[in-house]
Amino acid sequence: GHYDTGGYEHYLLKEISEQPDTVARTLRGRLDDRFHIAHLGGLNMDARETRSFRRVKIIGCGSAYYSGQIGAQLIEELARIPADAEPASEFRYRSPVVEADTLYVAISQSGETYDTLAAVQELKRKGGRVLGIVNTVGSAIARECDGGVYLHAGPEVSVASTKAFTSTAVAFALLALHLGRVRDLSPADGRRICEGLRRLPDQIKEILALEPQLQELAKKYAEAPSMMFVGRVRGYPVAREGAQKLKEISYVHAEAYPASELKHGPLALIGPDMPTVAIVPDDELLDKNLTTLGEIRARGGRVLMVGHRAVDLKLADDCVVVPRNEIELDPILLSIPLQLFAYHAAVALGRDVDKPRNLAKSVTVE
Ligand code: AGP
Repeated sequence: GHYDTGGYEHYLLKEISEQPDTVARTLRGRLDDRFHIAHLGGLNMDARETRSFRRVKIIGCGSAYYSGQIGAQLIEELARIPADAEPASEFRYRSPVVEADTLYVAISQSGETYDTLAAVQELKRKGGRVLGIVNTVGSAIARECDGGVYLHAGPEVSVASTKAFTSTAVAFALLALHLGRVRDLSPADGRRICEGLRRLPDQIKEILALEPQLQELAKKYAEAPSMMFVGRVRGYPVAREGAQKLKEISYVHAEAYPASELKHGPLALIGPDMPTVAIVPDDELLDKNLTTLGEIRARGGRVLMVGHRAVDLKLADDCVVVPRNEIELDPILLSIPLQLFAYHAAVALGRDVDKPRNLAKSVTVE
């Protein structure tokens, strides 16, 4: 039927709110609870080929690239294959070496982004094996790839990507599980990830229930001329996407840095006028992150922490506490409060939420 805002004030809020459902659709029929594996029929790869790759290279633009960074970490952690992500536009202009034992993965919500399409075409020309993680069925990028994973997240109308970003990260968890279980991921770890993935939709509902808090925080912080977003390792792509969302829909300047890099330069910016959003999962880097929060607060910087447990006022002015999953899957959940934060910042500032200035939903030209 006709696709409308379904009673929501904006498509963006509708699409953020749909995520328990869209994540369930990305997972549907793909988890095997007997062998703790993922079924991804669209990959068109036999087991031998699946075991043959020595590297994974992920390409996409904008938010697709940031979700690819989450994907690279999932593949390294679960499948123990070296993996990294790069903007598709950079990749295609630097004349990359195309390797036969590398698995290339192109990401696109629309399936029509020209830079990503051109990168895929160049890879194919040079004999590269390319999978697509794509939302739009039958799109140009989907057709060009050798196989892939469809997100099944439904049409995304708002220019800022939300549900496609989340579903892409989920699709990467499935791909990492699949690659891992035909290589050396144990059945016990496979089970842990399968069960973690199944918990996501309900945990996303819990995060959506934090909307009133995020609305308040957005009003409080959106008055700042500029914001810093920091995270370490798993938290870093979350910080990058959080900054991207804020920039594109609220026009508040935001920068994302690895928390560890602050002291190598950007700490000079920190003060009362530049609050920091810090992604602080309860993982092996917790202590390091808490030290960073202390350093920011000691310089008069305000801190909004997003993590798994509230911390002392000495470390953060405000804490958004989200449910924890398995540490490898936590980035998927930590991204969602930042979507609501950006949305409410944009509303508070009276922006054109669904159609931000200067941006198009998909960039089909060079
Ligand atoms: C997302 O919020 C942006 N509007 C943008 O970065 C987008 O993710 C990028 O242009 C890629 O689009 P695609 O996924 O349709 O290829």
